Amino acid sequence: MKLPRNKRLVIGSVAALIVLLTTATLFLLNRADYRSHEGQAIYLEHCGQCHQEDGAGLGDLYPSILNSPYFAEQLNELPCLITRGIRGSIMVSDGSYNILMPPITTLDDQQIILLSDYLVQRWGNSHGFSISADSLPTSLTQCTP
Ligand code: HEC
Repeated sequence: MKLPRNKRLVIGSVAALIVLLTTATLFLLNRADYRSHEGQAIYLEHCGQCHQEDGAGLGDLYPSILNSPYFAEQLNELPCLITRGIRGSIMVSDGSYNILMPPITTLDDQQIILLSDYLVQRWGNSHGFSISADSLPTSLTQCTP
């Protein structure tokens, strides 16, 4: 049976629309996934040996970062924390620490953004905090030596 021309047009358009939407959805899902994977790889390479894969830290040596304010309200200080490290004592949710966190100077801006996104997504309290390429240079120039 041959369908009338206008019906074929409708069916054709609907099919094209479905293909388009599926492709767009897959592309976006893939992109989000790709970003967090890259952030996770950066975390594991540069932070994981101390703070551990699950962020729980290592006893009295390395603090847990599970409830860190640096992934929420103090997010604008995170790029400095990463690139300058921490010297001196710091109060964290599970007590106070006074152990050197070495600076990590090999990450470029894009990697700092990917890492920050990952940290906020995984351990932040999802109040919509995020670091953008625009705000990163500002926060980096505001680092105190
Ligand atoms: C060599 C071990 C080591 C590495 C590597 C390391 N840290 Fe740390 N980190 C520490 C120590 C030690 C402290 C506590 C600093 C202090 O006592 O002054 C700390 C503190 C922190 C804090 C503050 C904790 C809180 O609850 O507010 C954050 C956030 C943090 N680190 C994130 C990172 C990130 C992100 C990376 C990777 C880019 C990283 N650290 C790499 C050892 C490390």
